[in-house]
Amino acid sequence: MQSIDDKILSIFKQRKDAFVSGEELSRILGISRAAIWKHIQKIKEMGYVVAASPHLGYQLTATPDRLIPSEIKYELNTHIIGKEIYTYQILDSTNNTAEKLAMDGAEQGVVVIAEGQFKGRGRLGRSWVSPKEKGIYLSVILRPKIPPSATPKITLIASVATAMAIRKISSLPALIKWPNDVFIKNKKISGILTEIAARPDTIKFLILGIGINVNTPKEFLPAEATSISEELGQPINRIALAKELLRELEKYYLLFNHKGFECIIGEWQNLSATLGSRVRVEDSENVYEGQAVGIDKVTGSLIVRKDNGFSSTVLSGDVKILE
Ligand code: BTN
Repeated sequence: MQSIDDKILSIFKQRKDAFVSGEELSRILGISRAAIWKHIQKIKEMGYVVAASPHLGYQLTATPDRLIPSEIKYELNTHIIGKEIYTYQILDSTNNTAEKLAMDGAEQGVVVIAEGQFKGRGRLGRSWVSPKEKGIYLSVILRPKIPPSATPKITLIASVATAMAIRKISSLPALIKWPNDVFIKNKKISGILTEIAARPDTIKFLILGIGINVNTPKEFLPAEATSISEELGQPINRIALAKELLRELEKYYLLFNHKGFECIIGEWQNLSATLGSRVRVEDSENVYEGQAVGIDKVTGSLIVRKDNGFSSTVLSGDVKILE
């Protein structure tokens, strides 16, 4: 159910941000003009800029740079991902909140967004720098019907979706480094942390945590990372990127469910900075070098031809591109 505030904002947007009289708003929404005025004050407090003219009425002139659920949902046109969006000013980690919601039975597709995180987590025990209102930090609850061993496939799907969304909104040449990193010119711009709750042969739920450095100044970032604004020389609209990300995630997730992983491997290969490169692999047991030659179609693992001629599949671990 849309709130009155959301309804007023929708009317402004349908009118392409032209003036709408208080009288008309009051008629459409069935509330008094005084009540409309109160809602306009609330909308302004949320950061929207609304011009008021005694003769013409109200006009929306600027939308705040905040990841407000109704802004993201507006013309999102997805069926699963983002039907329900929870946003928070600050969380320890969106993955933790999403996990709690999933344990309480939240449906597949629920999205948790935080404007900032104070314990943002990365893979392999690393942290994820999450300064307030600079990036996109979100987690999506999924309930895929796959065995736990196929989890890397979902991470690969998410990396394709993230790279495509960044390309569409910023035109930057985003590439994927297996399994979960999105890079621009050899610097990391986005990372994905996939966590699961599983029974021996099925996944109960999966939390897809995605972090993107959007308008993050380089002072906040590690030396090996960058952000969209650093690359473009200007900030971009985070709402537009969040929307595109959810759309792309849904597109590739549905493709995976209906047509299988094979349909996505081609896209992944086109966007891959890893395939064909010489890599250094560090997993829990070994460190070795070799050439990244492919992706296992069943599990999504990376296939590396070692220097001794033997091939090895990397299911998890750290992979550095050497050349
Ligand atoms: C990595 O590159 O190691 C993965 C980084 C994942 C960061 C995102 S931000 C949203 C979600 N919440 C977290 O705590 N981590 C993920």
